[in-house]
Amino acid sequence: MIKPHGSDTLRPLYVADEAKRASLLKEAETLPKLLVCSQAAANAVMLGSGYFNPLAGYMNLQDSLAVAEKMKTTAGLFWPVPIVNVVADASALRGAKRIALLDPNVDGNPVLAIQDVTSIDEASDAQMKTMAEKIFRTTDMGHPGVKNFLSVGKFFVAGPIQVLNYSYFASEFPETFRTAGQIREMIQKNGWNQVVAFQTRNPMHRAHEELVRMAMDRVGADGAVIHMLLGKLKAGDIPADIRDASIRKMVELYFPPNTVEITGYGYDMLYAGPREAVLHAVFRQNMGATHLIVGRDHAGVGSYYGPFDAQEIFHKEVPPGALEIKIFEADHTAYSKAVGKVIMMREAPAGHKKEDFVLLSGTKVREMLSMGQDLPPEFARPEVARILMSYYQSLPKEAAG
Ligand code: ADX
Repeated sequence: MIKPHGSDTLRPLYVADEAKRASLLKEAETLPKLLVCSQAAANAVMLGSGYFNPLAGYMNLQDSLAVAEKMKTTAGLFWPVPIVNVVADASALRGAKRIALLDPNVDGNPVLAIQDVTSIDEASDAQMKTMAEKIFRTTDMGHPGVKNFLSVGKFFVAGPIQVLNYSYFASEFPETFRTAGQIREMIQKNGWNQVVAFQTRNPMHRAHEELVRMAMDRVGADGAVIHMLLGKLKAGDIPADIRDASIRKMVELYFPPNTVEITGYGYDMLYAGPREAVLHAVFRQNMGATHLIVGRDHAGVGSYYGPFDAQEIFHKEVPPGALEIKIFEADHTAYSKAVGKVIMMREAPAGHKKEDFVLLSGTKVREMLSMGQDLPPEFARPEVARILMSYYQSLPKEAAG
């Protein structure tokens, strides 16, 4: 099986031993407590579940700068996005060697992890801006990822962590949330050698479905792992339970049995386009996938990125050999009325016209569903569209658009 990134075996930071977890929880009662931001909590969940192998915890300021600048830690590990625990005020942590991290996303703020504090550094405004610019290619506060990155604070609380639970992900999505180790086991049990991963934060329409099918056919995959984001999204995006239900229906009806696994991971969306695509590749390698599909505007938002920037970065900025996983690059894909099926635009026959494609923007789709209009069957499977329709119809009118 494909090796994890940066080590021979996967080293998840979740404390698997129950007695050890109980004793750490007991210890936590005596430790200084820090209520972390949602992104830091999601980082803990990803570290706990092995997706961020081989990191041992949160990066310090020097590593964060190095990673933002050249996708490498100071020790030389290839890594695309700083994995940090940043706070606005670290005065309560002064002198603390070991702290308990409290979960902001679960009622009562239970302990999520224990951190050994190796350093606390304050970034300058200029350093924060440089990092934002490198990670997101913009410092515009209208970008949801930039806004988040530049508003949580400037103190980088670094050090290794021990993770005690998977936040709300394991309890809210028991059928879907899986750790990297569990997905490796799944792949092994299925006897799959070539495995395509599909990143998604949306319900899957016919273009997405066909991308998975094309990728599987073309790389000769034994199976595909649909791996959906279960964490926070920007306002207006479709909640995870609705996406989950629609994806399950699509797979049940349109893929042969035992060829597709439906799974999810506990992370908030960064909307960092190309850099996030590289992070996606790192953690799909960690879960044992041999290929990751990267299509049009992967992990993008608004018009901050070119439609294929997230593919280009793998050619221009990821050094050869840095990752073992391969990228399946997909062109803009849509149903063609002329050809009678979903195709990649670059593969359209001569004389094919743009109007031959059935194209709908996300905004248009939302508008139609909110107004109770059926989506064209060339765009969405009717069974999927029905699930989405009932979701949009359940929203208060002003929230739906
Ligand atoms: S993402 O933010 O998680 O990338 P989304 O769930 O919409 O968003 O997309 C999942 C994957 O499908 C990404 O690789 C994206 O580039 C790709 N994709 C989505 N729609 C299309 C399309 N019509 N044509 C080509 N690729 C697409």
